[in-house]
Amino acid sequence: MGKQLVVLVSGSGSNLQALLDHDELGGAIGRVVADRPDAGGLDRARSRGVEAVSVAPGDHPDRPAWEATLGEAVAEAAPDLVVLAGFMRILSPAFVHRWPLMNVHPSLLPAFPGARAVTDALRWGVKVSGCTVHFVDEEVDHGPIVAQEAVPVHDEDTPETLHARIQAVEHRLLPHCVALYCRDRLSIDGRHVRILP
Ligand code: GRF
Repeated sequence: MGKQLVVLVSGSGSNLQALLDHDELGGAIGRVVADRPDAGGLDRARSRGVEAVSVAPGDHPDRPAWEATLGEAVAEAAPDLVVLAGFMRILSPAFVHRWPLMNVHPSLLPAFPGARAVTDALRWGVKVSGCTVHFVDEEVDHGPIVAQEAVPVHDEDTPETLHARIQAVEHRLLPHCVALYCRDRLSIDGRHVRILP
């Protein structure tokens, strides 16, 4: 039987779209959860018949209450893997230990963690950036790396043009990594992720 997936989104959901469009993911996206009701990913999910719900921090008295509701929304779909596809909030250690989580980040980690990775890379003057797919641990943009791919930085790049070039790679790399997970082909040993034959 295929794996059950839950995808968390905050933004446009183009990475979610890449997952939805992938023919051989080896798993089913049972639910999409956003932290804001206007996240584009919610519509993308619904238009493909995938249940999509929003759990907004503003509707909760505090962070723990928000995360508890988020956890319920995820748990109801009983995922084998939770995919963070542009989910822009930090999750507590308790949450990240509840399920395996996979994140996509628009830099070659450990360079440029955080929410402004593309701008930070441009400001630094790097000639190469890229994207990283990694498992999530207690620290931000820190867990064991599944795959990375480099993307050239051009002199005339703006954050928008560089991010678009990186996202084109993300849309291939994230589904590839999720598909490997769904086929039980990822083995984690400390910081090292091995791809099994
Ligand atoms: C991606 O570039 C991802 O690396 C970052 O947020 C962006 C989300 O884009 N974490 P989208 O919502 O998938 O279009």
